[in-house]
Amino acid sequence: MMRDIQQEIKGLLEDLDALLVAHFYQKDEIVHLAHFSGDSLELAKKGSQSSKNLIVFCGVGFMGESVKILAPQKEVIMPKIACCSMARMVSSTYFDNSLALLESYGIPASMLTPITYINSNADVKAKVGKMGGLVCTSSNAKKIFEHTYQQQKKIFFLPDKCLGENLARSYGLKSAILGIDSQKKVLEADVICYNGFCSVHQLFTPDDVKFFRQKYPDILIAAHPECRPDVVELADFVGSTSQIIAYVRALPETQKVAVGTEFNLVNRLRPTPIGKKNTFVLSSTIPECPTMNETTLEDIFEVLKAYKNHRPYNQINIDTQTAVFAKQALDKMLELS
Ligand code: 13P
Ligand code: SF4
Repeated sequence: MMRDIQQEIKGLLEDLDALLVAHFYQKDEIVHLAHFSGDSLELAKKGSQSSKNLIVFCGVGFMGESVKILAPQKEVIMPKIACCSMARMVSSTYFDNSLALLESYGIPASMLTPITYINSNADVKAKVGKMGGLVCTSSNAKKIFEHTYQQQKKIFFLPDKCLGENLARSYGLKSAILGIDSQKKVLEADVICYNGFCSVHQLFTPDDVKFFRQKYPDILIAAHPECRPDVVELADFVGSTSQIIAYVRALPETQKVAVGTEFNLVNRLRPTPIGKKNTFVLSSTIPECPTMNETTLEDIFEVLKAYKNHRPYNQINIDTQTAVFAKQALDKMLELS
C-alpha cells in the first residue's frame, strides 16, 4: 500500500496536540497541511498566542525563535532550522562594531534608536531591546517607523538596507548605508541603514519592471519592501506577503500582475487557469528562497516522530538573558501593531 505521509503527519499532530504553522514561502504541500499559514508577524502572534503547548514551525530560524521568545513556556520545534540569509548578515558583534563606527563618526548610541527587522537572530534583537529599540516586520514597518521617528533621534535600521531606505524615502527622510556611504552622508542621514539585504528580493530589477510594462502596458506591479528602492519606486503596490496576497486576490483574474517576491507564494496566488495565465514573477529566473525550500514533509514527519518517541531534536532554546531583552523589543512591536 502507498504511504500517505500527510495522514501520518496529521495523526502525529493530533497525538501530540501540536500546532503546525508555515510561512507563505514554504512548499505548497506544507502550506496546505499547516493549521495556519501567514506572514512573519501573523506567525509570531499565532504561534505564541495559541492554546497549544507544542508549536511545529515551518519557516526559517528567526521565525521559530520569535515564537519561543514571546512564549518561553511553549515547546517550539522546527523540522529544519534553516537560516534566512539576510538574518545571517548581522550578529551581535557586527551590531557592536556598527555602533563603534557610528561613535567614531560623532554619533553616540544615545543619539540613536535601533529598529531591527524581524529577520534577525535573537542576539541581535536582544542588543536592540537593551538599547530601548524595537523590532518590525514588513507589515507593520510603517507604524513602527512613524512611532520611532517621533522620538527625534536618528534611526539605526538593520539588517535590511532596502527596507530601511524604502521606509526613509516614503517619509521624505534622508538615509545612508553604513560602511558604503560617506561619513558626511551618514552624519546628515535621519535613517542609517546596516548593509544587509535579501538575496532573493535582490533578483528583481527596474529592467524587469520595464520588460513587463512594455510587453503588457496595463500590467500591475506588486513588490515586497525587501526589493531594491529603484524597483519599489516603480511598483503599483508594495506590501508584506499577506498584503500582497490580499492585493492580488482583490484584482479581477483577467488583470495581469507581476509580483516581486518568492516563487512559491506567487505560484499559489491565483490557482485557476485564467488566474495563473495572468500572474507572473517579476524576474526572468525563478526567485526561490533556498532556505525556506529546505523543509520537506519527511522532515516534519521525522521531527514529530522523534518528539513522540522522547528523542526530540531541533527544539528552539534561547538563553534567558538574550530572551529577556529580545522580548522587550518584540513586545514593543506588538504593542504598536
Ligand atoms: P513577511 O513578513 O512579509 O512574511 O516577509 C518575511 C520574509 O522573509 C520576506 O522575505
Ligand atoms: Fe530571508 Fe530573503 Fe528568504 Fe525572506 S526570502 S527568508 S529575507 S532569504
